Amino acid sequence: MTRPLPVVFAETDLDVLATAPGRIAVIIPPEGKLDAGARRINRLTRGTLARLIEAAALGEKKPGDVITINWPTGMAAEAVDVVILPRSASPAESRRAGVALGRLKNGKPLLILGASLRRPVDVILGAVLRAYEFTTHKTKAKTDKTPEEPGAITLMSGKPDEIESEAAPALAVAEGVFFTRDLVNEPANHLTTTEFANRITAMQDLGLKITVLEESDMEKFGMGAILSVGQGSASPSKLAVMEWQGGAADEAPLALIGKGVVFDTGGISIKPAAGMEEMTMDMGGAGVVAGVMRTLALRKARANVVGLVGLVENMPSDRATRPGDVVTSMKGDTIEVINTDAEGRLVLADVMWYAQETYKPRGMVDLATLTGACIVALGHENAAVLSNNDGLCNAVLRAAKVEGEGAWRLPLGQGYADIMKSQIADVKNSGGRPAGTITAAEFLHRFVQDGMPWVHLDIAGVASVKADTTYAPKGATGWGVMALNRLVADLFEQS
Ligand code: BES
Ligand code: MN
Ligand code: ZN
Repeated sequence: MTRPLPVVFAETDLDVLATAPGRIAVIIPPEGKLDAGARRINRLTRGTLARLIEAAALGEKKPGDVITINWPTGMAAEAVDVVILPRSASPAESRRAGVALGRLKNGKPLLILGASLRRPVDVILGAVLRAYEFTTHKTKAKTDKTPEEPGAITLMSGKPDEIESEAAPALAVAEGVFFTRDLVNEPANHLTTTEFANRITAMQDLGLKITVLEESDMEKFGMGAILSVGQGSASPSKLAVMEWQGGAADEAPLALIGKGVVFDTGGISIKPAAGMEEMTMDMGGAGVVAGVMRTLALRKARANVVGLVGLVENMPSDRATRPGDVVTSMKGDTIEVINTDAEGRLVLADVMWYAQETYKPRGMVDLATLTGACIVALGHENAAVLSNNDGLCNAVLRAAKVEGEGAWRLPLGQGYADIMKSQIADVKNSGGRPAGTITAAEFLHRFVQDGMPWVHLDIAGVASVKADTTYAPKGATGWGVMALNRLVADLFEQS
């Protein structure tokens, strides 16, 4: 598992600056005033810092911008990263500064002179999140890159103990995000349904209660929809449940539901070869749910949350579901499988129904890399948000906004639901191209019980991307772990 970089919280000691290895970050406000640490660096570098400040027109820089002095004279460090950040910096601006440092860090130790930072924890979180690297399958990286020293981040300040305890929940967030990114990046021959369930089961050690339903259990519950997706694969389908009981014993939980298709070939309605390898991320929804549950457990959230993920592989074979087959869901609704590539909704239908029947949640949020149409509509900037409940929906949108995770609401409506009517069954699983994200959500809507507040997040465009994002290098982003963690805090932990 990729662990977040170790962070050391130290008392300010300017005497180490001359000999500290790696990179040193110094914070300068836009008006250019030097604090004690900056003055010491200026002295060691014989005025280089002051000259830079004079030349760089700091007023025109954005908060969080970084200017690097490479190979500074008078210091052992290979670089001084000058971070432009006002005292009044917002959390987002502070994280932006951290992100810039995390990107530059490149395996080297980083010493941040944080004495005049107002939001040191946000700077740390930004740096840690951006410094993620998925090296599990690189045979060289481990030996070449970070030899003796692990390249920790050291934050120097006047009150290291205080900042360390403030940072603990943020580092729990980073652990959850990394857990999700590793799951999403992991190829499908490694992250089988069994391996995914094993990684979830290992979270028992954090105080989560884990239950894994096997195919025989799912048969007993009549989960014909999810079982029809996995039946063509040699990997057994599973439904994994993670319960976190941090709130009052009698309080109904929030349910988080994830699509966990470890690989989506499309099944008999097979996908074209070009780009099919990307479908290794089709368990992204389940990955986010697992990551959030990890964060909640690590920071001992005062809330009751249950995470449920349907783990399947969508393969063509002699046992696979055919287009035209009719399957029966746990709810009892029959579904005509028009297209075996519209498999995610079949998984979610049964997992959502099971969640409501078993846990009687007070609300339900599902996450899924559900439709290519979502990418057509919103690209890689925003997840699609669809909901039957303005209160819960607005809470999700607000949490996502605060965390800098893009989210945009799309409508539901009877007209869209009507598109999913089947000739021969209660509903069909594909409504064709128009409004594909909405018709998929309307399919799920059938499996939401009356009065249940529900938000559907289509994360097809944001779970894994081909370019660097604010908080992540290219590949898995962990989108949603921060938003849902905040949602839980906002809804249940405010007293
Ligand atoms: N997993 C895909 C959706 C997807 C596409 C996610 C691209 C991430 C990137 C999903 O199972 C799928 O194949 N959906 C079909 C639905 C259609 C057959 C109704 C799609 O979007 O084409
Ligand atoms: Mn598919
Ligand atoms: Zn899929």
